[in-house]
Amino acid sequence: MKTNLLVVNASARVTRSVTRQLAARLASAWQGAHPEGCIVSRDIGLEPPAAIDEAWIAAAYTPAEARTAGQHASLSLSETLIAEIEAADVIVIGTPLYNFGMPAVLKSWIEQIVRVGRTFEIVTSAEGESYRPLLAPKPVVVVVSAGNGAFLPGGEHAGLNFLVPHLGHMLGFLGLTETTFVQVEEAAAKQSDDWPELAVAEDLMRSSIRHVSPGQRGRVAMETAPSAH
Ligand SMILES: Cc1cc2nc3c(=O)[nH]c(=O)nc-3n(C[C@H](O)[C@H](O)[C@H](O)COP(=O)(O)O)c2cc1C
Repeated sequence: MKTNLLVVNASARVTRSVTRQLAARLASAWQGAHPEGCIVSRDIGLEPPAAIDEAWIAAAYTPAEARTAGQHASLSLSETLIAEIEAADVIVIGTPLYNFGMPAVLKSWIEQIVRVGRTFEIVTSAEGESYRPLLAPKPVVVVVSAGNGAFLPGGEHAGLNFLVPHLGHMLGFLGLTETTFVQVEEAAAKQSDDWPELAVAEDLMRSSIRHVSPGQRGRVAMETAPSAH
């Protein structure tokens, strides 16, 4: 059966990027196990998605059947990015920790894919309004690199790592609840590429295991994202 891996890279660096190297390693493990599979690369680090603007918002909140040609054009990148997610069986996201949070390009990608009536819906009931995700669950592995290991789970500044909870929540908000984070410290990652946790992530790519036990605290940490609902 044809299968797809979507790789999203958010690092602004190319040659020295830890997350690009690790995402490539996971993609290679996946390709080895799925030789017929197709890898789709979405390089938001090199080609940042446009920031949403007033026309985009107006189009997103106009029912699809009532949109003008211009409004469809405003949403065309959003449609492309969402279609890439829908077509994927597995997703790898490589992202640095920038300024305690996600890179702006990754936030732009999130804003392009979070669309009312398309990737989530608002449900009104007697109890009030609630949200329902519209994307099908599928395994997502997020490789995070931080310059300072204190931002890793259990570290002194772990509570200031807003990237992991924010990204995990947003993916879950859309229905992508099977997210595993592999978090590395840049210097340690550059010293060695022989980590048990990375090997587990590679196994996950090969076998599409849905959940991985949380790893021990250290230079590499794995955890599954908390449910967003
Ligand atoms: C603009 C910028 C902001 C950064 N902010 C942080 C930060 O808040 N905390 C941290 O530990 N490292 C920070 N770093 C270091 C990166 O997280 C680290 O270099 C990481 O390895 C980058 O990912 P990459 O190797 O895939 O490019 C920052 C780096 C840059 C360029």
